[in-house]
Amino acid sequence: MSAPNAAGWRPEMSAAEGAAPPTSSGDRGLMLEEKLIFELAAPGGCGVDLDQPQGEVSPALGRFRRAEPAALPGLSEPEVVRHYTRLSRQNYAIDLGPFPLGSCTMKHNPRLNERVARLPGFADVHPLQPVQTVQGALAVINELAHWLITLTGMHGVAMSPKAGAHGELCGVLCIKAALEARGEHRPVMLVPESAHGTNPATAAFAGFAIESIPAGPDGRIDLAALKGRLGPDVAGVMITNPNTCGLFERDLKTIADAVHAAGGYVYCDGANFNAIVGKVRPGDLGVDAMHINLHKTFSTPHGGGGPGSGPVVLSEALSPFGPLPFTARQADGSIRLIEEADAAAAGHPHGFGRMAAFHGQMGMFTRALTYILSHGADGLRQVAEDAVLNANYVLRSLDDVLEAPYGHAGPCMHEALFTDHGMAEGFTTLDVAKGLIDEGFHPMTVYFPLVVHGAMLVEPTECESKDGLDRFIGSLRAVAERAKAGDPSLKAAPHHAPRRRLDETAAARKPVLVWRDPA
Ligand SMILES: Cc1ncc(COP(=O)(O)O)c(C=O)c1O
Repeated sequence: MSAPNAAGWRPEMSAAEGAAPPTSSGDRGLMLEEKLIFELAAPGGCGVDLDQPQGEVSPALGRFRRAEPAALPGLSEPEVVRHYTRLSRQNYAIDLGPFPLGSCTMKHNPRLNERVARLPGFADVHPLQPVQTVQGALAVINELAHWLITLTGMHGVAMSPKAGAHGELCGVLCIKAALEARGEHRPVMLVPESAHGTNPATAAFAGFAIESIPAGPDGRIDLAALKGRLGPDVAGVMITNPNTCGLFERDLKTIADAVHAAGGYVYCDGANFNAIVGKVRPGDLGVDAMHINLHKTFSTPHGGGGPGSGPVVLSEALSPFGPLPFTARQADGSIRLIEEADAAAAGHPHGFGRMAAFHGQMGMFTRALTYILSHGADGLRQVAEDAVLNANYVLRSLDDVLEAPYGHAGPCMHEALFTDHGMAEGFTTLDVAKGLIDEGFHPMTVYFPLVVHGAMLVEPTECESKDGLDRFIGSLRAVAERAKAGDPSLKAAPHHAPRRRLDETAAARKPVLVWRDPA
């Protein structure tokens, strides 16, 4: 192993460390090694010339007066810049290569969006400014709301939810409020096996008992099982469409009619709207509430837990129960913000409350609206078509080397699903994912959806060219063949990364989040 230099940076990792095989792409993964900033310089050093404090420290500081120097690392400006630049180079990013994470829709974030979001009139507004001074920002929210309603064929929209799962909670709380207004107690929410994991979690969080509906052999909801469970105790159903197997739930309209006839509501998880935007309007299929992840379909940046934005479109039946605040255009063209004091007069007396303190994620709204306006309705339709085409290209290019469990059921939507079936004894999906790192790619989503053994879910999105897809397919094929042949070096992958295999359970369950001076 090569020794780290004084700064803790190891410029290359020796391939001999684990007899790493050559990669088919010629790339060598992520090679940098970087210490924590606290380990790079002893506390007490200082990278800038600060004036000595003059005079007495104010007694008003009382017990907050520092008794000893703060344990801050003292580094010069170039050292700090290099530290963070090296860290950034350890990170895989959408600006570096494809991010084929299924269910995440990690697509290119157009620079035009960034330019618009940084305009001072949008970037510097404050949610407590008087509405007359932020008419432009409110107009953006109002215009985006209009687009979301139009694209989904729904009646209203709640813009304030901060993420997909937050949007789910908003929609389910609307259902709860609507049932309460009807004087009905319906404690059960049906959640098909093919739904995203956040769906049952959300319904449980909102106080519902969850009942699972099985999937049929084609990976879609078992219609007969769902219809058979409907009854006066069922509040509704939460359906992810396209579902977690990357398939369109073709029976959604029939399901919605049955659920409505039984007095329930239909929640659709619209996080995968990227696959159908401009092609299908969920409102036409009988959906009552659906969140849209702006950070997926409409290209606003995401990852690492934020920042997201999950507006919820609502049917006519649920719109009266949507949260405050919301925008409304007045007869004179100005935009009003409807809050608690105005709700009744504005014809919205039944809102269940607020999802957030303010109107929503302004930075995401400006980016999403820029994306929508720069594509137009036809361009958005092409987004969906290209995303589906790319996923099917991946599916059909690899289904001879990786098992595609629903390949027989026809084309997929935006995600290609594979399993670990047929790998050599002892080789798993995890080995394939780690092998892809050596090829210079971020791995696909693994072990999700849960209904498929050793699942590998690849979502290329519409942003990848055929050449880019071919490179990815070539690398995944090479790694899959090694897994099938039982190549022992794959068990030790990644070889070309600062770390090999981490204890992922300990990382999730016992994270070490605070640095302590070992001395
Ligand atoms: C289908 C589906 N539903 C819900 C969510 C939750 O969205 P968020 O992570 O923004 O809360 C995701 C996230 O990827 C998703 O893929």
